[in-house]
Amino acid sequence: MPMFIPGKPLTALATALFIGLVFLCLPYSRTRLDLSPQPTCNNRPPDDVIPNQVHFVYILKNTSHDFNFEFSHFLSIYAAWHYWRPQAIYLHTNVAADSPEVARARNGTAGKWNHYIFTIFDLKINEVDVPTHAGNGMELQNIEHKSDFVRVKAVYELGGVYIDFDVHPLRDIRPLRESGFKAIAGRQLGGQINSGTFMSTRGGKMVKLWMEQMHVAYNGGWTTHSNEVITRVGQRLVREPGEMLILERDAFAPGSWKDEDTDALFAVHEDTPSNLRNDTAIAQGMQLPSHDEAFADRWDHPERFADWERDWSHTYLLHAFTPDRWQHKVPGFEHITPRYVLERRSNFARAVYPVARVLFEQGLINVDDSHTGL
Ligand SMILES: *[C@@H]1O[C@H](CO)[C@@H](O)[C@H](O)[C@H]1NC(C)=O
Ligand SMILES: *[C@@H]1O[C@H](CO)[C@@H](O)[C@H](O)[C@H]1NC(C)=O
Ligand SMILES: *[C@@H]1O[C@H](CO)[C@@H](O)[C@H](O)[C@H]1NC(C)=O
Repeated sequence: MPMFIPGKPLTALATALFIGLVFLCLPYSRTRLDLSPQPTCNNRPPDDVIPNQVHFVYILKNTSHDFNFEFSHFLSIYAAWHYWRPQAIYLHTNVAADSPEVARARNGTAGKWNHYIFTIFDLKINEVDVPTHAGNGMELQNIEHKSDFVRVKAVYELGGVYIDFDVHPLRDIRPLRESGFKAIAGRQLGGQINSGTFMSTRGGKMVKLWMEQMHVAYNGGWTTHSNEVITRVGQRLVREPGEMLILERDAFAPGSWKDEDTDALFAVHEDTPSNLRNDTAIAQGMQLPSHDEAFADRWDHPERFADWERDWSHTYLLHAFTPDRWQHKVPGFEHITPRYVLERRSNFARAVYPVARVLFEQGLINVDDSHTGL
């Protein structure tokens, strides 16, 4: 009676399958991301630690136009580099590293801030195919939504920290990355998790579920596929040990898009003396004051602090929601320029001043540089 004996043929088949898998998975691309909603190789186990690499996404509406990064964007990347010393800074964009757009940014044709961003960080420029539709067939209506899909996939495939260009690192986040949690994000006004800053291990469960479900959830709503999905998935995952840490609002997104919050962040307090009031000292190349605070200064020396001044001690990343989008005029505020920050007459300026001071002392910025750098 013929019996099935699991012998050589099966072993050979298993070996062939195994070699096939290895072969399929080895050329796993770390430089060019495929953005179609398809599963990637599953035999490579996810990592346990969130790697020290940062992801930015910037999609050009017209790929034959210049990058138009401003001083505030440079400040954001520089702060990430200054406080975190990342192993890699990725720029996921829709032109190639050897494109004329990148060449013009590098050689200064597109202004000072583009020149800096593309020359001083050893940016890893990752050309992505920008998705046009969600997996459910809905057309992606604007650049912000396309960016949402690119960012989640990038962090899923590479692991690391994603921040929007209007997010300003205020301190190191190594203790968070190394906390043992595989994904970390923070709440915003109203309680949802904000999708403008998040971090994950490569292949982490939270980003994987978010990446899959955003394709189903997309309906053209501003945050249906982003904040709503990361909130739903992230909150559900907290019960699985180590999968998700949700931080309070002040950790990453202390302000908001509301007028009173953008005013509190950006408004210039004209009655406060400028940190640059001594033009003679600046002209002579003197050091700018550090304004470092000792632990108990706020209690022991309340007279040193303005009543409008916010304590940023419990903020890691300042998501500085722009007032531009809503055409709201913030009192005394025009643009984030070196002078605006170095004068230290707003809460935003005081938060990012330590990094601007380093840039000033290194001669990278001048008081009169414009926000566009042109
Ligand atoms: C992109 O910009 C170029 C140059 O300004 C213009 O000729 C072209 O029509 C634009 N393309 C699209 C798709 O808008
Ligand atoms: C900058 O690069 C662009 C694109 O390669 C080129 O056309 C232009 O001549 C360059 N400008 C300078 C000043 O090197
Ligand atoms: C401005 O700085 C110069 C050079 O350090 C110093 O001599 C002068 O006293 C300062 N003036 C004020 C008003 O602080």
